[in-house]
Amino acid sequence: MQSNSSGSKYSHKKNLKFSDDALALAQKIMKRYPEGKQKSAILPVLHIAQTEFDGWLSVETMDYVASILNIQPIEVYEVASFYSMFNLKPVGKCVIEVCRTGPCWLMGAEDLVKFIEKKLGITEGQTTPDGMFTLKTVECLASCGTAPMMQIGETYHENLTFDKCGTILDEYKNKGEQVSHFRTERIKHHSDIHQ
Ligand code: FES
Repeated sequence: MQSNSSGSKYSHKKNLKFSDDALALAQKIMKRYPEGKQKSAILPVLHIAQTEFDGWLSVETMDYVASILNIQPIEVYEVASFYSMFNLKPVGKCVIEVCRTGPCWLMGAEDLVKFIEKKLGITEGQTTPDGMFTLKTVECLASCGTAPMMQIGETYHENLTFDKCGTILDEYKNKGEQVSHFRTERIKHHSDIHQ
């Protein structure tokens, strides 16, 4: 794949646009903030963008978000590259985020990652050839009391053992559905993450 002008080798088509529902939701969220402070809506708008455009944020998508928020593209790149919930390259239908911070690590997160890598035949950061799973490790997801744990879409899977984790992954595979941090129904009903 060719690199685009930003140096990224991944890209979306040019001139992409939100659906009417996604644009209406983004505008509704932006209206919460005073004129000129629309940047404050950047996180929910990036979630909408990621849901609209295949679960990841290309440079084209981030530029589009910048144009909606009336800010510089670099301001979007900075935020999108800081938070682990945003994917800057194509991902599988189901993104597995295993917590690797202290309490989870003490409770076996490292071995859990190895188990998942072996089960899926990929390493951290990779996507399975069938496009079903992407494996990531992330920092504390604030569920330390139920370590080790992982997040898939909006669901926390806690107190994991190898058996439990294997069963959960099999269930996702059998369903074969796209799983997102921000459900498409929310866009359809114009309801954001605070509702
Ligand atoms: S350390 Fe894993 S949820 Fe906090």
